[in-house]
Amino acid sequence: MDTHDNRPIGVFDSGVGGLSVLKELIELMPKENYIFVADQINVPYGEKTKKELEKETLKVCNFLVSKNSKIIVAACNTATCYAIDFLRARVKIPIVGTTPAIKPAVAESKSGVIGVMSTPATSKSPYLNNLIKEHAGSMKVINIGCYGLEDIIDETGMLDSPELRRLLSKYAGPIKKAGADVIVLGCTHYPFLKPQIRKIVGKHIKLVDSGKAIAKSTSAILHETNAINDSGRKTDFYTTGDPKQFSKVASILLKKRVEARHIEL
Ligand code: DGL
Repeated sequence: MDTHDNRPIGVFDSGVGGLSVLKELIELMPKENYIFVADQINVPYGEKTKKELEKETLKVCNFLVSKNSKIIVAACNTATCYAIDFLRARVKIPIVGTTPAIKPAVAESKSGVIGVMSTPATSKSPYLNNLIKEHAGSMKVINIGCYGLEDIIDETGMLDSPELRRLLSKYAGPIKKAGADVIVLGCTHYPFLKPQIRKIVGKHIKLVDSGKAIAKSTSAILHETNAINDSGRKTDFYTTGDPKQFSKVASILLKKRVEARHIEL
């Protein structure tokens, strides 16, 4: 059934990483309206405590609700691992979370060894470690918390530089050495680094992320609740940081002109 629920889909991350999820959402649901919030004053989320993450992400969700969002996509593994239950208990619209794709990675692996790259906070979160126990109990899992990658992307939009290559070798190198045949990209910034990660690990290791699965879950909820739209197509971008910098980097990553506005939360 065609409907015209024009209310936007709210999407957020600490920074530009969430754009990798926004891309998948728009690809699957091009006729929806979107609001994207980058909470860049607080990037990196991956070095914050649970309390800080709950507090900051609730502000973002309240903003998205105030903009009449019909659903929120937390396009951030770190925020999801630490704050999703807290947010769902306080926000009255559905929230779709992003979690590292452990289960699909286990299904893909033949070697019995998988790698997980995520932020330092995600890598040590009980949420991720429970996912690993639940789905990858019989596998060897190389779980790496990566410092610094998201900062470089957020600050410069650079997807290749000597420093980036050094960091990626440091984090992805040991995963390859351990014999992994699948690497979970457990931070939404990392899909933008796929070509560089590939250069380090070669073409036989699969790189999996959860972008497409999140888009599908979001679409399923909108169908179930009869809240789809078939006449939208705009995305409004906001950042709690510098809108000029965000717009520049987002335009590079999305390969189209983005103009963001500043918000104080
Ligand atoms: N992109 C986010 C994630 O998926 C967080 C990056 C950060 O701010 O540390 O975890």
